[in-house]
Amino acid sequence: TRAAVLISGRGSNLGALIEAARHPDYPAELALVLSNRADAAGLERARAAGIATAVVESRPYGRDRAGFEAAMQAVLEEAGIGLIALAGFMRVLTEGFVSAWSGRMLNIHPSLLPAFPGLDTHARAIAAGVRLHGCTVHFVTPGVDEGPIIAQAAVPVLPGEDESTLAARVLEQEHRIYPAALAWAASGAARLEEGRVVLAVPMA
Ligand code: GRF
Repeated sequence: TRAAVLISGRGSNLGALIEAARHPDYPAELALVLSNRADAAGLERARAAGIATAVVESRPYGRDRAGFEAAMQAVLEEAGIGLIALAGFMRVLTEGFVSAWSGRMLNIHPSLLPAFPGLDTHARAIAAGVRLHGCTVHFVTPGVDEGPIIAQAAVPVLPGEDESTLAARVLEQEHRIYPAALAWAASGAARLEEGRVVLAVPMA
């Protein structure tokens, strides 16, 4: 499967995916890294790894989300992409684009969904006083951070913790579960069927 990773920023999850995809039996080939910002640091990571990169700037499209997505779609089709991994991609996608990629687009979110969808998840988890926090990989559906869950990892929230230490502990787990979940989706071991995830993988 030719996979594209969509980013907007530093790309540490991209880095973890690149590392995993180096293994000869990894079922997805990272064929393209696409950013909506030319200054995303993750683009450098991709170039250093010899992966094709593309930039489709979202800013010039303003509120024309469909126009922005049509431009991305053209790039994805040109590259023969069959699977998308959103990795710190900070644009909300329209129902049209999401439907076109149904069952073939994954996202990673830094909370144990359905708790804390949206932004500032670590600060909100601390403020809420939860003792467990974590990260989630899910298939993307039109509702933001609402898609069926493929994988999660939990971390404890320690007494007196601040946002940055918690974020670092969660990020470590993101880097562990995203490569695994993408591999499952690429191999068909994780599939979306009638709005639910069907898994045929050994659970740790
Ligand atoms: C991660 O925390 C991811 O869960 C969230 O955005 C952040 C991206 O980080 N969606 P990076 O660009 O992968 O380092």
